[in-house]
Amino acid sequence: MQVAGINEIGGPVEILDVQDPRPLAADEVLIAVKAAGIGNWDEIVRTGGWDVGASVPMALGVEAAGVVTEVGENVDGFHPGDEVLCHPLQLRHQGAWAPLLIAPASLLARKPASVAWETAAAFPVPALTAEQVLTEALALKAGETLLVHGAGGVTGGLLVQLAVLRGANVLATSGPASMARVRQYGALEVFDYNDPSWPALARRVAAAAGITAVVNAARDGAATAMSTLVDGGRLATITSDPPAEERGISVSNVYVRPDGAQLERLAELLGNDQLTFAVASSNRLAGAGAALAAVVAGGVSGAAVVIP
Ligand SMILES: NC(=O)c1ccc[n+]([C@@H]2O[C@H](COP(=O)([O-])OP(=O)(O)OC[C@H]3O[C@@H](n4cnc5c(N)ncnc54)[C@H](OP(=O)(O)O)[C@@H]3O)[C@@H](O)[C@H]2O)c1
Repeated sequence: MQVAGINEIGGPVEILDVQDPRPLAADEVLIAVKAAGIGNWDEIVRTGGWDVGASVPMALGVEAAGVVTEVGENVDGFHPGDEVLCHPLQLRHQGAWAPLLIAPASLLARKPASVAWETAAAFPVPALTAEQVLTEALALKAGETLLVHGAGGVTGGLLVQLAVLRGANVLATSGPASMARVRQYGALEVFDYNDPSWPALARRVAAAAGITAVVNAARDGAATAMSTLVDGGRLATITSDPPAEERGISVSNVYVRPDGAQLERLAELLGNDQLTFAVASSNRLAGAGAALAAVVAGGVSGAAVVIP
């Protein structure tokens, strides 16, 4: 089958001919991919910083939405024809920028009928990341004040919305072009990250109760974001830049974990219009490399997908 991927670690994204999927193991399903997400994390896979279980030559892509076409002999609960989304790591065969994807049934979520294929495809990694930061790393409580640094991004936007749904008071940073959108997500105040005084402004807005939890979703932003926390607060970062602990602040360096049941609950929120998630760039396999470069350069306001 034809896929978009790499022939060698660090090589360019190109169209490759790889073997068709092998017969399924008992716990697996075969998915006809309708769309697959393109995210910053695919650049980390391309350059060898994230081992996702496949070896070169390999299709990139770690999230997808599609239709189940075959199921392994021990699969309960999913059948041919079911519409699903997934973050199927470790990969069993090839990545998701491909017409066919093998995934373990335990990592599937049902796609609500109201959610478009492109939206479902780009949702798994940012949604699972945001949920795991808030519920596990930060154990965010209703009424707390949370700051989201980098809220203009795909993952940052979900962090704001999921925190608001949990009853937190959310402060955020973004670039000027994203501020109105981040306010619509429910942030009480949005600070321009270009203004070096934003941490002081955020501490002032939070007043006496202070900012007790911070999540950093901006590259190299964790140390600056940490400066807004009260002593004894909690910081989680998703950009691999955890600062040393200080002032009694706990620091979590979070990496997304596949979880089918958690993804299904998040997809239901999307299907019920409790979450907003925009896809800005839809590409053919031949355009996947350029689309990934645009995502990494920050030139896409919203998620990007490939349609195999
Ligand atoms: N650890 C994990 O498991 C995990 C999972 C998901 C994502 N990530 C990482 O988290 C980061 C964000 O992901 P994403 O999906 O939200 O990426 P994204 O959609 O590309 O968004 C990045 C955002 O960063 C904002 N930004 C740029 N410069 C900034 C600065 N100096 N200060 C604050 N914000 C700034 C931009 O916001 P404006 O548009 O407002 O300018 C941009 O939209 C990426 O590095 C990604 O690789 C890690």
